[in-house]
Amino acid sequence: MPRPATIHICSECGAGTPKWHGRCPTCGAWNTLVEEQAPSPAAQSERGAGAATPGVPVPLSEVEASRTTRLRTGIGELDRVLGGGLVPGALVLLGGSPGIGKSTLTNMVLGNLQAEGTRTLYVSGEESAEQVRLRAERLGPGALSVPILAETDLQRIVATLQQHGPEVCVIDSVQTLRAADLTGAPGTVGQVREVTAKLMEIAKQRGIAVVLVGHVTKEGALAGPRVLEHLVDCVLQFEGERERSYRELRAIKNRFGSTSEAGLFEMREGGLVEVLDASARFVAEATRAPGSVVLAAMEGSRPLLVEVQALVAPSELEQPRRVVSGIDRNRLALVLAILARHGGRGWSPRPPADVFVNVVGGVRVDEPGVDLAIALAVASASRGTPVMRPGQIAPLACFGELGLTGELRWVGHPQRRLAEAAKHGCHGVIAPTGSGDGAREAGTLREALDLALAPRAGAAPAPARAAA
Ligand code: TYD
Ligand code: MG
Repeated sequence: MPRPATIHICSECGAGTPKWHGRCPTCGAWNTLVEEQAPSPAAQSERGAGAATPGVPVPLSEVEASRTTRLRTGIGELDRVLGGGLVPGALVLLGGSPGIGKSTLTNMVLGNLQAEGTRTLYVSGEESAEQVRLRAERLGPGALSVPILAETDLQRIVATLQQHGPEVCVIDSVQTLRAADLTGAPGTVGQVREVTAKLMEIAKQRGIAVVLVGHVTKEGALAGPRVLEHLVDCVLQFEGERERSYRELRAIKNRFGSTSEAGLFEMREGGLVEVLDASARFVAEATRAPGSVVLAAMEGSRPLLVEVQALVAPSELEQPRRVVSGIDRNRLALVLAILARHGGRGWSPRPPADVFVNVVGGVRVDEPGVDLAIALAVASASRGTPVMRPGQIAPLACFGELGLTGELRWVGHPQRRLAEAAKHGCHGVIAPTGSGDGAREAGTLREALDLALAPRAGAAPAPARAAA
């Protein structure tokens, strides 16, 4: 059988060439040619005939919407992030760096579903069946009952799906699969797109919920195939520091649920365990030393207390370092500028200083309420004063967004944040004006600094900033 022809299409200008070039011969753009299957002669002649039958538009109110019953994965945190469970016929892309626990999570999911009588299939293109079995042994009998296919050839996988007819299928990973029609190596944009398109076709046809595992590059993008994010229904990101045991699962895109939810897990000997009392743990672990502050954050619809730490150290560099983990780097730059301009009384680091800010436990905070925590942590680290009421051992919590003129702005769900802080024994919460009962309200950054870091009795005022 002759090999089906392929064509290389430029993603910039759309021109096609039979051979791959590093630079598009038509528009001159670099690295834009993507291999695709050439349209079959039959399809071409059909298109050329010009006798297409018109479609029939239907009012939306008359469109039949079947109530989708979701498949519960048996892992509460995952179900919540998904919006209530896996949707039959939907494609979920699960991204994360190597070793974070993608295979463990998917294996556990299939194990739970299989144990409940759902037909599942685990396709491993990355590890051999033995390797997957060794992992499953650690996860328990449910995981061991999952049927596995160690295969990278797309056609064979599609044929297996057609014959075996699972309700849920995991592809681990999409970057190892290979469509034989294309000459490109597995993992290239053309291959990954083709593989996903084929799997999507069969998933929609047969109502199979497909979870595609994908690797993430150092920069945090899903390796190569950003194109994938548009194709699939839901993109989940599994994050965390490999050395630490906490793992965070977030939805970046979700056609069947919210994208603001996050689930927290811990990697243990017997697999991933949901962390349901995250706030209690983070508060208990908070160091209460200078530079540490408890933030009452919102993770989607759920309040979460996390510790934000800052370290301020003299710098030998022309451009002092700004190192962050768990927050956006630009956010730190902004907060440092506001602190310098509106904090007053030398709360901000005296230049030149390196500033490091870290959200403890590998958690990422993506909401504006983190501003005040960054400011208090940096101010506390600069001064060497802990954020705590004198004579108390319980930490103070805080939240609030900083405006460019130094005002402390209201953020969403103050009552839920306050309740969470009270529940976990924080001694007071510094919050923007209007946050309601139980908050120690501050209208500006300056007031918040006074509340949080009242000068110790008899302490001399901070030395004036050295003239630059
Ligand atoms: P894995 O799921 O293979 O990661 P990924 O598929 O994302 O590359 O597992 C990652 C790590 O988890 C691995 O270093 C071993 C560890 N692990 C445990 O600590 N406990 C367990 O029960 C299992 C199965 C794995
Ligand atoms: Mg893996």
